[in-house]
Amino acid sequence: MIDLHCHLLPEVDDGAQTMTDMLAMVEKAKEDGITAIVATPHHNNGHYQNIKANIIDCVEKVNDYLTENNVDFTVLPGQECRITGELLTEYEQDEILTLNHSKYLFIELPSSNVPKYTSKLLYDLQLNGLIPVIVHPERNRELMEHPDKLYRLVEQGALTQITAASVIGLFGKKIKSFTDEIIDANLSHFIASDAHNVTNRSFHLRAAYDRIQQEFSEELVYFYSENAEYVIRDEYIMKEHPERIRRRKKFFGIF
Ligand SMILES: [Fe+2]
Repeated sequence: MIDLHCHLLPEVDDGAQTMTDMLAMVEKAKEDGITAIVATPHHNNGHYQNIKANIIDCVEKVNDYLTENNVDFTVLPGQECRITGELLTEYEQDEILTLNHSKYLFIELPSSNVPKYTSKLLYDLQLNGLIPVIVHPERNRELMEHPDKLYRLVEQGALTQITAASVIGLFGKKIKSFTDEIIDANLSHFIASDAHNVTNRSFHLRAAYDRIQQEFSEELVYFYSENAEYVIRDEYIMKEHPERIRRRKKFFGIF
């Protein structure tokens, strides 16, 4: 099982603060059945700046530390980029890091709204050969109030990643219910932990997959878990099943 979204690099953001914290997170991830993690530190979110070169350096140190401590685990480089008008310029300046050097780039929206330039920026990223992946859309207030906006962004080529804790209700009933709507409407392509620690923001990936299997389908579990593997191999993700496309259209009543 691959976890595409995790804050386990020490001292770079509000995730792990020490190598010991990082090690505890790796052990917890292994208990959850996770075999590899993409480390995705916050970037440009108003609190943390983590550019590509620094993340790659930090991931190398973490992997060396794991090897020295005989921990069989792989940490891959990634970044959680808050959307800004300067994102493309930063990409051209080689400060932006995709997931494991693939074509997939994590984009974080502010929690309350969707900036007006979002659609244009996501389009421009695609013109540059990137595939934007909107992280935790289920926690964005504007998308919650206007789910058609999420539909439009996905229709225009963006992918989305929902959070395991949202799937099992740890962010509350409203977010759980919106997460279910997103899953039902086939507007999500990945599930990841967004784990920050082993206490109040832990992994819960196994529990989320279990709930998806029980309340949605086994096919969906494969869809999400295999898509994560395609990302780290920089391959195209699984095509949508025609039945799910039909359900999405019906859900929004657009067509
Ligand atoms: Fe995150």
